[in-house]
Amino acid sequence: MRLKNIFVICLLLILCITTTGCDLSDKKIVKIGVAMPTQTRQRWNQDGSNMERMLMEQGYKVDLEFANNEIELQLSQIRTMIDEGCKVIIITAVDANSLSEILDEAKSAGAKIISYDRLIMNTDAIDYYATFDNLAVGTMQGEYIEEKLDLKTGKGPYNLEITAGSVDDNNTIFFFEGAMEILRPYIQTGQLVVRSGQVNLKQCAIPHWKEDIAKERMTNIIKNYYDKNHLDVALCANDSTAFGVINALKAEGYGDENKKMPLITGQDADRKNMKMIISGEQTMSIFKDTRMLAEQVVVEGKEPETNDIGNYNNGVKIVPSFLVRPQFVDKSNYKEVLIDSGYYYENEF
Ligand code: GAL
Repeated sequence: MRLKNIFVICLLLILCITTTGCDLSDKKIVKIGVAMPTQTRQRWNQDGSNMERMLMEQGYKVDLEFANNEIELQLSQIRTMIDEGCKVIIITAVDANSLSEILDEAKSAGAKIISYDRLIMNTDAIDYYATFDNLAVGTMQGEYIEEKLDLKTGKGPYNLEITAGSVDDNNTIFFFEGAMEILRPYIQTGQLVVRSGQVNLKQCAIPHWKEDIAKERMTNIIKNYYDKNHLDVALCANDSTAFGVINALKAEGYGDENKKMPLITGQDADRKNMKMIISGEQTMSIFKDTRMLAEQVVVEGKEPETNDIGNYNNGVKIVPSFLVRPQFVDKSNYKEVLIDSGYYYENEF
């Protein structure tokens, strides 16, 4: 009941009337800010435009901004949203730890804050968090590897290298831990061998999920540790890091007749990675239906749902959350998952 009250109070979200004296039923005067991290990753363009479209369809004004992965730019975009009088600001942070002060200002100005996909840390100004089940993303990647390599029946040893996400993104820890919970026992038995020795998150992390940094790191690993050995599995946290890793491997002769591509994981089912899954360069990805996440935050006239009230502590409070279930996608099921569901058209690949 208490939780319900919190929502009714905090998440006057996009509801009709107001604690602030402003009549939200005249939607034309209500503006919603949507602050996305960057346009260089396909998904944030999609998430941003899905929300913009849904909000505009409901009659709201929308200020949609992309921050080019720059902290300062995101801060100034949020400041503008406050100055414009945005009643709700939906944010995917560039850096989870840099928004405390600006969000205090937003809260004092009466704006409601939704943390979108990535949890914003160290602030009590967030009212709601909508994301995918981030631990499940990692678990699915780990289980896919476990199953395809038949690790449960004792097969191996296989050489594995790990590429993780950006440490300023709280999701990275969940992705990494989810996958490592499955894979760590096999590293301990020696069925999986990490020749570089890089098994901690910090050693495997890729700042801002950048393709070229992932590429450079994998090139060094291959040159230093795989002169006489074959890399069998590359756990990559998402599609941009997988893209960098694939390019590094191709430049080192992988994909040629007698140097088979390793099993490579990803996340986001980006168009360009789906092409590589179909051509056999990448093995799988995790599909996050961004339409479902946008629907979760763009609710009109009803309380946003929660299904997780314990796992997402941002250092100041446990943030009421809704987790959307992701699913794996590979060559065997992509038509059913991505095309039959209307997410992509067949000719996009
Ligand atoms: C994460 C997000 C992933 C991926 C990554 C890179 O926060 O959950 O889906 O897109 O950022 O942008």
